[in-house]
Amino acid sequence: MSEKTEIRPINGKLGILTPGMGAVSSTFVAGVHAIRQGLRLPIGSFTQMGHIRLGKRSDDRQPLIKNFLPLCDLNDIVFGGWDIFEDSIYDAAVNCGVLEKELLDQLKPELELIKPMTAVFDQYYVKKLEGTHVKTGTKMELAEQLMQDMENFQKENGCDRLVMVWCGSTEIFLQKTATHETLEAFEKGLREDSRDIPPSMIYAYAAIKMGIPYANGAPNLSGDVPALEALAKETRSGLCGKDFKTGQTLMKTILAPGFKARQLGIAGWFSTNILGNRDGEVLDDPESFKTKEESKLSVLDTILQPELYPDLYGDLYHKVRINYYPPRGDNKEGWDNIDIFGWCGRPMQIKVDFLCRDSILAAPLVLDMALLLDLGNRAGLPGGIQEWLSFYFKSPVMPEGLTAEHDLFIQQTKLKNTLRRMMGEEVITHVGEE
Ligand SMILES: NC(=O)c1ccc[n+]([C@@H]2O[C@H](COP(=O)([O-])OP(=O)(O)OC[C@H]3O[C@@H](n4cnc5c(N)ncnc54)[C@H](O)[C@@H]3O)[C@@H](O)[C@H]2O)c1
Repeated sequence: MSEKTEIRPINGKLGILTPGMGAVSSTFVAGVHAIRQGLRLPIGSFTQMGHIRLGKRSDDRQPLIKNFLPLCDLNDIVFGGWDIFEDSIYDAAVNCGVLEKELLDQLKPELELIKPMTAVFDQYYVKKLEGTHVKTGTKMELAEQLMQDMENFQKENGCDRLVMVWCGSTEIFLQKTATHETLEAFEKGLREDSRDIPPSMIYAYAAIKMGIPYANGAPNLSGDVPALEALAKETRSGLCGKDFKTGQTLMKTILAPGFKARQLGIAGWFSTNILGNRDGEVLDDPESFKTKEESKLSVLDTILQPELYPDLYGDLYHKVRINYYPPRGDNKEGWDNIDIFGWCGRPMQIKVDFLCRDSILAAPLVLDMALLLDLGNRAGLPGGIQEWLSFYFKSPVMPEGLTAEHDLFIQQTKLKNTLRRMMGEEVITHVGEE
């Protein structure tokens, strides 16, 4: 057995704050309310539905994760956040049409009370949106206002701890610059309103500065810059991202490790999507799409390792397209055409047509990562990048010099072994020598 980590007991409520209260956030919040009332099951959530094997196979110990770990109970969560529109979570959920109106009406009294705080927003970073519910000030003043919001929220709701998960729109593609290198340069950038600091980074800074864990559900550059990573280590805040692993990329990271395990070659992988929600509209802007494209493209290379397997993956042609198509709303359709080849180079094709509901896949991830970040924080894990949560992301943020692991099953093993070790259980290698 490894030594059990001391985990600070729960002593009050957990506040989960989402900058961005659109489709993902409202589906998450409404879903948790439905689950609390016994109206729905937490399907898709590893922390709520998953089991974990402990000890030898012959021990037959496979508790539910939520019974194994001292996680925050769903009844002890309070929800809050910010948006550039004033819609309550009820209105946002009705507008995006992901969950049934009938269910939302049953939850209306609670959901109507959850209203967004005034947002930090700048249209330069999300061209397709025009906000009406927006703070003013220099970037440093905006960060201070966010910190004040969090302090007020914590007091008003009797929260012991807070966690922040970015569920805002995808911002334009930005590259790291000298402003992001050190905390000093970053804070100077905040005071001088540097263009290198988008709103999501101001939220990340505010959270991390207060020792609040931060996860980024979108692909844009946010907490993943050296200045904020260093600050997170100092304030012992967990930091993870980026881009919820849902839909087409989830399928890719399920299928590609299988092809590679069987040494099947891939000549081409063409992926296209149609979607009609606000996220789709934002991604219709080439600058926001570029951010998403980078995130979606990185996946195959690291799973398939073409440098090690040049005969199988050296000439792989990978293309990703997203098309805004309003009639579909949140019900995305993702097509994949995969040109594979087998024994003696003979070609074959696989077609995947995934009629998915994006926010239905993303909502349980918000819940899991918030509960696990809170657990990690109480367990005193070192602050900074939390690699063990890579399972949830399309582009896992990694410490400098390390390559991200994209294989869903390796990510799952890493997550489970981290939890086993945290709880003083043996890590499982599957060698099976018992
Ligand atoms: N749905 C999925 O499966 C999925 C998967 C991966 C990533 N994502 C990402 O998650 C994010 C949310 O997706 P969604 O479908 O909920 O989109 P959405 O458009 O329905 O919601 C985003 C919300 O963020 C708000 N917003 C934008 N900038 C803001 C700011 N600076 N401060 C506060 N609020 C702000 C918008 O007004 C909007 O209400 C997007 O970036 C999307 O790319 C979603």
